[in-house]
Amino acid sequence: MHGQSGPRVDVHLPPDVLAQSLRDDVRHGLDRAPRELPPKWFYDERGCDLFDEITRLPEYYPTRREREILAREAAAIVRLTGADTLVELGSGTSEKTRLLLDAMTAAGALRRIVAFDVSEPTIRLAVTALAREYPGTEVHGVVGDFDHHLGLLPTGGRRLVAFLGSTIGNLRPAQRKRFLADAASQMAPGESFLLGTDLVKDAARLEAAYDDAAGVTAAFNRNVLTVLNRELGADFDVTQFDHSARFDAAEEWIELGLRSRKAQTVHIPDPGLTIELAAGETVVTEISAKFRRRSVEAELAGAGLRPAEWWTDEGGDFGLSLSFAG
Ligand SMILES: C[S@@+](CC[C@H](N)C(=O)[O-])C[C@H]1O[C@@H](n2cnc3c(N)ncnc32)[C@H](O)[C@@H]1O
Repeated sequence: MHGQSGPRVDVHLPPDVLAQSLRDDVRHGLDRAPRELPPKWFYDERGCDLFDEITRLPEYYPTRREREILAREAAAIVRLTGADTLVELGSGTSEKTRLLLDAMTAAGALRRIVAFDVSEPTIRLAVTALAREYPGTEVHGVVGDFDHHLGLLPTGGRRLVAFLGSTIGNLRPAQRKRFLADAASQMAPGESFLLGTDLVKDAARLEAAYDDAAGVTAAFNRNVLTVLNRELGADFDVTQFDHSARFDAAEEWIELGLRSRKAQTVHIPDPGLTIELAAGETVVTEISAKFRRRSVEAELAGAGLRPAEWWTDEGGDFGLSLSFAG
C-alpha cells in the first residue's frame, strides 16, 4: 500500500489485521494465569512518544550507551559491511540510526533506507523525516510485525540489517531463537546484522532504568490498558494498577508488570472476556532480557550468522555486535 505522496510505505498490518491480532493476543494472554500481554501493544502514538521520553531519562542508560558506541564505531561498521542499504527493524524514530546513515553518506555508500516497525504513524513520520534529511536516497517504510513479516522485507543492494535498542530482549528465548533464524534466512551471503543488546549488571541500576523517578515508564506501561480500552472497548480502570519492574536474577531479565491494586473484574467485550483479577495479581507486560557476550555470539552462530565484531561503551553497560550471513 502506498501513501499519496512522499516515501513508499508498505503496510502489512492494516487496521483489521491489527485488530484481529490484538484480540488473539488478549484472548491467549489474559484468559489464563500467569496473565501476559506482548509488548508490541505499548506502541500506539502515545506509547511511541512515551518511549521517546524514556530514552532521555537519567535512569535509562541503554540509549545513551548504544549511541556512544555507534558514534565511535559507525565509520568502521560502514567499512566492514560495505553496505549500501540500511534496513532497521523496530526502527521507532530511527534517531540513533542517523549516526550510521551519516557515516554511510560520508563514505558515499548510502543508496537506500528501509525502516520497519509495527507502528504505522511512527513509520510515516520517520520516513518523511529521513527522506527530507537524506535527499537522493531511496526511503522505504514497512509496517509489519517482526514475528511474522521478515520475509516481506525489500531485498536488493548490500544490506546492513540493524536491530537496535536491545529490542531483541523483549522476545522470550524460544521466540528470540525463531526471530534470529528467520532474520538470518532472509539475508544473502555477505549481508550483515547489527544487534544492540543491553548487558547484565547490578540489579538496582537495572530496576531503576525501568522504574524512573518521574514515572514515565509507569505511564508507558499503563498505556497498554488504555490501548485495550480504546481498541476493544475494555473497562480497565488504569488508576487501579501499579507499575512493577523486577530483575529476575535466575532468568537475567527485567519483568515489567501491572499489579492489580484490588480484586477487580474487567470486561473486554470484543473477544467477549470477563477477567477476575485478584488483589496483587500481576499482568506481565514485557520482559527485557539482559545479555552476556558469550550467549549473544552463541545465539547468533546458532542462527547461522557469523559473529565478527563486539563493541561496548566505556562503562561496559551495552553491547553492539556485528555478524555476517553466509
Ligand atoms: C524498545 S523500542 C526501540 C526503538 C528504537 N529502535 C531504539 O533503539 O530506540 C522498540 C520498537 O520496536 C517496535 N516493535 C515492537 N514490537 C514489534 C514487532 N513485533 N514488530 C515490529 N516492530 C515492533 C516498537 O514499535 C518500537 O518502535
